[in-house]
Amino acid sequence: MALLALEAVQTDIGQFHILQDVSLAVPEGGVTVLLGRNGAGKTTTLKTIMGLTPAKAGAVTFRGSDIARMAPHQIARLGLGYVPEDRGVFTQLSVEENLRVAARGRDLRRKDRRLDKVFELFPDLRTAWKRRAGNLSGGQQQMLAVARGLINENALLLIDEPSKGLAPVVVEHLAAALRQIAKQATVLLVEQNFALAAAIGDHYSIIDDGRTVRQGEMTDLIKDAELKQKYLGVAS
Ligand SMILES: Nc1ncnc2c1ncn2[C@@H]1O[C@H](COP(=O)(O)OP(=O)(O)O)[C@@H](O)[C@H]1O
Ligand SMILES: [Mg+2]
Repeated sequence: MALLALEAVQTDIGQFHILQDVSLAVPEGGVTVLLGRNGAGKTTTLKTIMGLTPAKAGAVTFRGSDIARMAPHQIARLGLGYVPEDRGVFTQLSVEENLRVAARGRDLRRKDRRLDKVFELFPDLRTAWKRRAGNLSGGQQQMLAVARGLINENALLLIDEPSKGLAPVVVEHLAAALRQIAKQATVLLVEQNFALAAAIGDHYSIIDDGRTVRQGEMTDLIKDAELKQKYLGVAS
């Protein structure tokens, strides 16, 4: 059984039919990459999973239970972490305050162990502990955004385009951290940078114009020049 499954999901935003037919199976463990052109519906898919733009039809199941009609805070409490495209860090707050706000208020000692994990993956956040998030570099803000998802015992992390606008060396650091994270949690990653997606993805799913067009193993997609060209604009 997949950890998370979407079946024939449709989502409207206002009067617009954004997701028309999205089906997605995220196996437990590793990294599943959600791919597709700009405007294909990747962000809306993540928001639909989190209940932020609820599905109007279709099924969303997590560990076999229907979550499609649950409120975002209830979904989060099941162990789903969401790292939004705009990062969602509070620029006026310090790194410490951002993580305290993100931590769901239970089991603080466990939280401290989570913090050790965060520092191990992102040493910059220890150094910048008391600094305002707004004064961090773009890469450090992205690390903080991911750290907010790690501070709780999440089984599934949804991460939307973390590499956007970052320098290659920072992207490499982030990629290594995501691989580490995926050893203990499942990651559903939206990523436009195909080289990065190919390097860290185990499974893939492609969305085009609000519909799922293909999913499978990343190793198969890497070999499929036609598929990459057609939906991702990746030249062979
Ligand atoms: N709040 C909104 N109101 C109207 N249209 C929206 C809104 N959010 C997204 N869309 C549209 O939905 C489509 C999918 O958007 P999105 O999920 O952000 O795509 P992606 O993340 O793949 O780039 C796009 O055509 C976008 O313009
Ligand atoms: Mg998007």
